[in-house]
Amino acid sequence: MTSLMSLSSSAPTQDELKTLVGRAALQYVEPGSIVGVGTGSTVNKFIDALADVKQRIRGAVSSSEASTARLRALGIAVFDANEVDALAVYIDGADEIDGRGYMIKGGGAALTREKIVASMAAQFVCIADASKQVEVLGRFPLPVEVIPMAARQITRRFAALGGKARLRLQGGAPLVTDNGQHLLDVHGLRIDAPLAFESEVNQWPGVVTVGVFAHQKATLCLLGTAQGVQTLRFD
Ligand code: 5RP
Repeated sequence: MTSLMSLSSSAPTQDELKTLVGRAALQYVEPGSIVGVGTGSTVNKFIDALADVKQRIRGAVSSSEASTARLRALGIAVFDANEVDALAVYIDGADEIDGRGYMIKGGGAALTREKIVASMAAQFVCIADASKQVEVLGRFPLPVEVIPMAARQITRRFAALGGKARLRLQGGAPLVTDNGQHLLDVHGLRIDAPLAFESEVNQWPGVVTVGVFAHQKATLCLLGTAQGVQTLRFD
């Protein structure tokens, strides 16, 4: 366990743990590189920390319009994914992470672009507070980005697996992702075999991306705990 930042004597808040792991992730940013950047409140802490060293990097490939706006507002150049051949590292949060580095992602609705940018990177560094650590994936409702006309059929397919899919709403209307699609959140799943599950759901017609990141799992996780930052490495 490495403690990279001093914590106050009282128990750290979740927000403080996010700040801690966001700063800790800077050690994986190579000088002169383009960094893959995820989405979410933990990544926002990383982006804020990245702004302090922005002179040392070329810029970022971003996984969402929200992260792009934050990066640009802080003066960090954002490259289109098609302008870049490969990334040394992708840094992102998770909704759940298990002991093998498999994750559920998509709570922030950015799962498709997150998986694309992650697939370009040699290393996936997950930054998360300890509440995200689980034995088995599935307590967090599984986000699935879908083509709108397929939503009901995909809902029926999840029901056959024991899951209850709900269309994600925003302001009373279906949420529209950065890719112009809809999102289902699937409750009641227990995902014992994430690799097989991801492969299976990915090939259902109308599924754009399933929020299981098993083929695109974390290389390591910087986990924010009351004792400091714990580095978990996965084979
Ligand atoms: C966004 C994601 C995020 O990584 C995930 O939701 C975690 O977010 P946060 O850091 O806000 O808890 O997958 O689509």
